Amino acid sequence: MEVVVSIQDIRERVKSFRENQLTVGFVPTMGALHEGHLSLVKKAKGENDKTVVSIFVNPLQFGKNEDFRQYPRTFDNDCELLSKEGVDIVFHPKASEMYPEGFCTLVIPEHLEDKLCGKLRPGHFRGVAVIVLKLFNLVKPDVAYFGQKDFQQTVIIKRIVSDLNLDVNISVLPTIRNKEGLALSSRNAYLSETEREGALCLYKALAKAQSTINAGIINTKEIVQEMEKIIRNCKSATIDYVSVVNPETLEEVPRVSSGDVATLAVRIGKTRLIDNIICVSTI
Ligand code: PAF
Repeated sequence: MEVVVSIQDIRERVKSFRENQLTVGFVPTMGALHEGHLSLVKKAKGENDKTVVSIFVNPLQFGKNEDFRQYPRTFDNDCELLSKEGVDIVFHPKASEMYPEGFCTLVIPEHLEDKLCGKLRPGHFRGVAVIVLKLFNLVKPDVAYFGQKDFQQTVIIKRIVSDLNLDVNISVLPTIRNKEGLALSSRNAYLSETEREGALCLYKALAKAQSTINAGIINTKEIVQEMEKIIRNCKSATIDYVSVVNPETLEEVPRVSSGDVATLAVRIGKTRLIDNIICVSTI
């Protein structure tokens, strides 16, 4: 496995893959890798000739009072894990090369960026959009892999690919959970033992959404109330939002049908966690 740091070098490596008609699978990450990331890597490896993983904690997607400085950085361990998976290239660029002096171009996913997480994290999805577009331009992947846990991010990336006619397929893979249901996330590292227990309320609330639908209730307000009841039972939890939305527009639906997404963001102590499920309804 090769660690590539400069833009010139990644361009050269990718060019030689292309010249040899090799397909490229790409997994963009901010590092602090866990089984969720590795499930994307495994899929990329299985479906492509070459696998590239980027590790870059993108300053542009963090707000002023967010956790950019504290964000877990475990580069050596990440490389060990990726090397075991047989990854070909880790792209680990420097912020100064990705965002040189004078950088001023934004990608604005209008209508999608100010909903759900975007309401509380203004500018976040512009930052994601810019870095993902830049990485796609540099790595030129055939397929890029993302986790369903970051549902709004996946919707926005698919929209950008379609709106800007980018020549890449987007593959969204299921959320990986621990055996109790907690969605794996690099930010779980911030949780204390008791907070980790409390964090299970996210999955319990999502499971409640599905069981409420199974019981024949498809009115979103009622479903959201049931979900919120579960989260309020957890002392350390503060709700940012709980909603059931259309999977393309991110608008809240009045009545739930199959394919709509029950989604939430909850702060457990100081740690903000997100999760979602795709609803199934037979009504
Ligand atoms: O999901 C993430 O880890 C990040 O938002 C991404 C897609 C790597 C962009 O920085």
